[in-house]
Amino acid sequence: MITGKTKLFGLIGDPVEHTLSPYMHNAAFKSLNLDNVYVPFHVKKSELKAAIMGARSLDIKGLNVTIPHKTEVMKYLDVLDVTAELIGAVNTIKFDDEIKGYNTDGLGAVRAIEETTTVKDKKIVILGAGGASRAISFQIIINGAGRVIIANRTLEKAVILKKNLDEKFNADVEAIDLGEKLKDELKDADILINTTPIGMYPNIHQKPLVTSKMMHENLIVNDIIYNPLETGILREAVKASAKTVTGVKMLIYQGIESFKIWTGIEPPVDVFKEALIEVLK
Ligand code: ATR
Repeated sequence: MITGKTKLFGLIGDPVEHTLSPYMHNAAFKSLNLDNVYVPFHVKKSELKAAIMGARSLDIKGLNVTIPHKTEVMKYLDVLDVTAELIGAVNTIKFDDEIKGYNTDGLGAVRAIEETTTVKDKKIVILGAGGASRAISFQIIINGAGRVIIANRTLEKAVILKKNLDEKFNADVEAIDLGEKLKDELKDADILINTTPIGMYPNIHQKPLVTSKMMHENLIVNDIIYNPLETGILREAVKASAKTVTGVKMLIYQGIESFKIWTGIEPPVDVFKEALIEVLK
């Protein structure tokens, strides 16, 4: 029951109709007997500032932030967590005496991958150089990745991301396009992460950027797409006898990290997982 004591959490984005976050967070609130509720809010770009100020006035305790507000929203916050500041994007806000921004996208991806292998000292190839690639590449370097290859259709965008990483870290990062060099780099790579939308519903038959021939059996392949659960690139990985990490894992762990920021409690992974499996069925 929602009462005068219920604490309010939510998500701001445009669109928000298809978000899966309410299923995970509300299931976890229920399982932990927390008097909290999580509600998606459709917020247009022109209303972003008003939404943040309004959320504070309404005593909303925490928000997730999704496309297209992750960068723009930083202007309206009082402080940024160090990772959010490095990445230059926020996906989680906590309203306290101050309004503080965090980014759990990269953390979610790293926790998902680290169920299978650590990222420390590994050679990691990332496909794409957009917002998701940015969050993940910063986080894997924070977690000690040995060598990072950013492969993107538009080389200039990969080069800009590499430069941004070079400004902040003394890490081994290279920017390449999707040509022959990608094949070479994959030969001794440990981890491959797809951050492009290739293969995402409804384009489930789109040809993946990397096929089984370019993979090897010691490679770990992660797609951040979770709809469908098994994407083209993950099917190629199975063909190559490589290990796979599905996008659902990243979705679960970025949510778990947000939940921890808001409540101080590590929620049960299984509750998040079951809530998602139920809706994705
Ligand atoms: P997100 O915030 O989810 O990362 P984005 O910022 O739009 O989304 O980035 C999408 C990435 O996928 C980009 O790196 C894009 O490549 P370009 O920089 O060349 O545009 C990549 N991408 C999207 N569709 C692609 C396709 N059909 N082939 C190759 N790369 C693609």
